[in-house]
Amino acid sequence: MSDDGSKEMVETVDVSPRDPDVPQAPGADVFRQLLHQAVRVADMANSQAMRMALDFAKVYEREQGVRKEFENQLKQMTLMEKQATRYAEDLAGMLRSERERRQELERALAQERIASEDLRRTGLQGISHLVLAATIKDRTTGTHLQRVRRYVEAIAERLGLPASLVEEYGYSSVMHDVGKIHTPDHILQSEHHLSDAEFTVIKQHCIDGEKMLGTARFFETAREIAREHHERWDGKGYPDGKKGAAISLAARIVSVADVFDALTSKRPYKEAWSAEAGLEAIEAGAGERFDPEIVAGFIALAKEGVLERISSEVAASEDDGHPGTPAK
Ligand SMILES: [Fe+2]
Repeated sequence: MSDDGSKEMVETVDVSPRDPDVPQAPGADVFRQLLHQAVRVADMANSQAMRMALDFAKVYEREQGVRKEFENQLKQMTLMEKQATRYAEDLAGMLRSERERRQELERALAQERIASEDLRRTGLQGISHLVLAATIKDRTTGTHLQRVRRYVEAIAERLGLPASLVEEYGYSSVMHDVGKIHTPDHILQSEHHLSDAEFTVIKQHCIDGEKMLGTARFFETAREIAREHHERWDGKGYPDGKKGAAISLAARIVSVADVFDALTSKRPYKEAWSAEAGLEAIEAGAGERFDPEIVAGFIALAKEGVLERISSEVAASEDDGHPGTPAK
């Protein structure tokens, strides 16, 4: 039975208490009771339907809320996903450009290495030209330079210097006397004791050598050596009277090697000293003319036979056709 039907029945059927003065048709009370029951059942059904409808409305409303919340979360997740995708793309872009920059840098470094090697080769060619000029000028210079270079490298190694410095000190040492190109032949090759005026001219070779070696980084150590190889540990040398550690280490090493080789070589004005006599003179100069630590290293090299081996090897290379005067 529909709600409208039951309402219509309630409205159209009179269920008011019976008038005792009106005669009743047989079975009327039973019908009335049945009708009352039917109306109550209809009311109950109606109430239950209303409750169910209300419950359904509440459930529907709650589900709608959950759905909206879910949709909001979905929107947020979609937004976050887009942001994450953008970040990932940005990051990938940054990594890509970083990789490109690194590759570019590596290319530049490789070119720099090639250029540096070219420069080094050019520098070494420059050295050989300078040394050749000095060799032509001063007949004693050829093998003297080879031995000085080898002594310098041996001392530098013994002092524990890195291989790159050992090499740099070695090739720079051969230029220590390049300034002598400017020294007049009659002074350079004089077999007599030099006058004060002549000695002043000789001293100039340190300053001229430094100037000749220009300003390139490649010749920095060579310039120091050219300028300072006649300075003395006690400050009594020339051309600047520098003292102790104020003299560059390279020049202090060259000083020992150069003097030892000059003493043990034949020169226009003297015979060659023996290695023992040369070493004694070097040892006597420790703390005065020479850095005592370098002298100690040099003496140790002599005791180990290193100096003798170097001298023999240079002499052997001279026998192969190289010009110069062998050491004794
Ligand atoms: Fe010199």
